[in-house]
Parts: sequence; structure tokens; C-alpha cells
Amino acid sequence: MPFNKITQAHISFFQSIVGEKYVLADADNIDRCASDQTEDLHYPPEVVLQPGTTEEVSSIMRYCNEQMIPVTPRGAGTGLSGGALALFGGVSLDMKRFNKILHVDKRNFQVTTGPGVITQELQEHLKAEGLFYPPDPASKGSCFIGGNVSENSGGPRAVKYGVVKDYVLNLEIVLPNGEIIWTGANVLKNATGYNLTQLVVGSEGTLCIITKIVLRLIPAVKHDLLLLVPFRSAVEACAAVNAIFLAGFTPSALEFMERDALEWSMKYVNSTGVNLPEDISAHLLIEVDGNNMDELYKDAEAISQIVQQYDIDEILFADSHEQKQMLWTLRRKVGEAVKSNSIYKEEDTVVPRAELPELLKIIKDLGREFGFHSVCYGHAGDGNMHVNIVKVTMSDEDWKTKLPHGIRKLFKEVVRMGGTLSGEHGIGLVQKEYMDIAFNPVQLNLMRQIKQVFDPRGILNPGKILMS
Ligand code: LAC
Ligand code: ZN
Repeated sequence: MPFNKITQAHISFFQSIVGEKYVLADADNIDRCASDQTEDLHYPPEVVLQPGTTEEVSSIMRYCNEQMIPVTPRGAGTGLSGGALALFGGVSLDMKRFNKILHVDKRNFQVTTGPGVITQELQEHLKAEGLFYPPDPASKGSCFIGGNVSENSGGPRAVKYGVVKDYVLNLEIVLPNGEIIWTGANVLKNATGYNLTQLVVGSEGTLCIITKIVLRLIPAVKHDLLLLVPFRSAVEACAAVNAIFLAGFTPSALEFMERDALEWSMKYVNSTGVNLPEDISAHLLIEVDGNNMDELYKDAEAISQIVQQYDIDEILFADSHEQKQMLWTLRRKVGEAVKSNSIYKEEDTVVPRAELPELLKIIKDLGREFGFHSVCYGHAGDGNMHVNIVKVTMSDEDWKTKLPHGIRKLFKEVVRMGGTLSGEHGIGLVQKEYMDIAFNPVQLNLMRQIKQVFDPRGILNPGKILMS
């Protein structure tokens, strides 16, 4: 790619725009921005810029577009597909200074926020006002809302409340040529032209830089109940998921954890909070929420009856705030726990929910065929299974050359079942080689043309989503 390297003249220009303090080229900052939470990848940018206003972003983009300098936007660096990695060096555009909640419009149940606000802080701020923004990725305590919009993140509550795209009403964005626009309007219904807002949501920082976000909110929900159900068969646990929906219930979370996932997480956070008998293969973590406690108890009771049709051990009802916290911590820490245990690759498969038992069987069969061990967990209520393939005893050679064939075969099966490559982690760098499984050349070409319209010189987050 004909990109230019950063020179002293470029640095001086950046300093004149954002101020010396926010042009960073020291080893620590370069190193910090060289990786995210995706495997052990390392792609150092040449410089890290921390703009503070939309106008500064605009000036940076206009200049980099003219100078053919690649720009890679960056949130909190919690991404799981390499979206924030500066594959070709250049600028890492660190959005951390966009960390203000700009306006809570209580009358209209909306919030306007900068993209650098930590998701959980936004949620807590809104909760104090009786408002609820549900999407809650596992990294909610550190990830930025801008990254969530860029990846169209999900999380456990998506099963009842939907994913990020279901809440984004309007975005202020900066195009690669520096133009500043709003994508839509702050309304709940909008049938006005092409839906630019939703095109930007989940575009993984490849089309524009998001500088303001308007989100739809709902009233805060008062109560929830949480149950942990131990299954002797992991495939049966997956089958029970659909049975719950078929009986007419929509839990506010329905999470699956294979035995290893829970066991490794307990070790990782040093918890003995869950009793884990030898014969237990998987758990479902089931939450129901609402404003009427009696109704919730009834729902929890009915769900217990449904899962009792399977081979289960004793159900744990979390009866205190601490116990709920403990169970959610164990669930949220699974990803980190697996990473701390072994070299790994994380797939983010998603299938129509009823196909989940078949998906799990296929994953395990492929593991036997290709010699890999997998730790599976995820948002079973959405049919979204995270497949953490851990290296453990696999040879370096097999890991490099044989495993990609296994992953390819897995994705082909997923697509055959009506599913797709990623439910919430994105394609970024690590899954782009598999895009031909989910899309044919006509579809891929359409995507390439969309990218071309937004970014004709190809300077924004190059090397992501589509193979060049
Ligand atoms: C989770 C992240 C990895 O569900 O998506 O824990
Ligand atoms: Zn997840």
C-alpha cells in the first residue's frame, strides 16, 4: 500500500492541531496502542494522537487523507478481532478525551455522549436518573461506548433487550476527508433515505470516526432473579435453552458455560463460590427481570420446571446481591481466564438458537478431527457461542497450518446452519480470511464499494474486514 511514513513535519502539524501534550510517540504509548485484547497480536502505530474536539479530528483526517497516512481509531483497546490495531503503522487515533456525557434528555429518553465514555459509567449515570441503557459487553467496566458502537457489541442482556444497534439513533461522524456530518435524526422512527446510522454501527472504524453518539433509553427495571443450573450433558444444556423460549419465556440473560469455562474462571478470580461436582459438564446462568417481584418468582419457578426435564443437579438460586455479583463476575471473567491459561484463538460463532445443540456437537467433533481443545461459553439465548480454542498440547506447526482448516470447516458448518462468523466481536483483522464463507463475490464487492465511497484513498483503518 502506498502509505507514507510519519516524518517530523507531520509531527509538527499534529502538534499544531492537538497540542504537544497529545502527540505521543514514547515507547509506552506506542506499545499500549500496539495491541488490544485479541490474542497476542502486536502492530505498533508510529504516533498516538489524542484529539479533544470534533474539529481536531476533522483536521487530522483531512491532513492524513492528503498525506496518505493510515489512521486507526482506538477506544479502550478491549476489542476481540484486532479492529484497533495499526496494521500499517501511521496514526493511532486515541479517543479517550471524548469522555463526556454531553446531554441526558430525560423527557425523550435519550442521551448524547462522547465515544470515550466507559460503558458502565454511562449506564450508572443513567441509572441514577431512572434510565436504562441495556447493552452490557463483558468488558463493560473498561470498554468505551464508541468501541461498542463501532463493533455493534452485545453482551448477556442482548437476548431480551437487543444489541447496540437497537439503541443508536444518530451519530456525529468525521469522514476520512475531514467532513463532519450527522448520520440521521434523534427520533425513534426514521424512514428518511438510506440508513447511514446503521451502516456506521458495526463498521469497525473503517468508514468514519464517531465523535458523538445519541442513544435511545428505556425506563430502569427494578428487579431481577438469577439462577445457575448445572447440567450433566452440555448438549442438553444447549437444548434446554430453546425449550425455555418455546415455553414462552424471554429471560434477560441466558448464558452457557462449559465446565472448563466456569472452572478456569473460578481459579482465575480465586473463588470457591460454586460447587462443581465431577459429573457436571456445563451450566446455564439464567436471569429474569421486571418490575413485579411476584411475577419474577413465578417465571423463575416455571423455568426451573422446564430445566428439570433434563439431567441436572441442584439449581442455585442467587438470593443476595453478593451472590449475584459473584456469579456474574465468574461469567464475565471467563474470557480473561481462558487467555491467562493458554495461547488461544477465540471464535464468535452465532447460529439460529434452535441449532445450538448441533453446533456444540460439531465443535467437539471438529476438535477431535483437527486435534484442538475448545472451551465454549456465551450468549446461548442468542445462539451466540464463543469458542475459545486453546493451544495446550497442539504443536506450533499444527497451530499455524492445520488449525485454520479446522476453523474454516467450523465456519462452513455454522453458515450451513443459517448462522454467521461473528455475533458481537467483529471481523477486524483475525476473521477477514473467512469472509468468503459468509458472503459471495457479489456481496463482498458491494461491501468494497461502500468502503470506497466513504474512504476512496483507503487511509482509514486499512486491512480490516475485507481481504485486499
Ligand atoms: C464474553 C465476551 C468475550 O461474552 O464477549 O465474555
Ligand atoms: Zn460475549
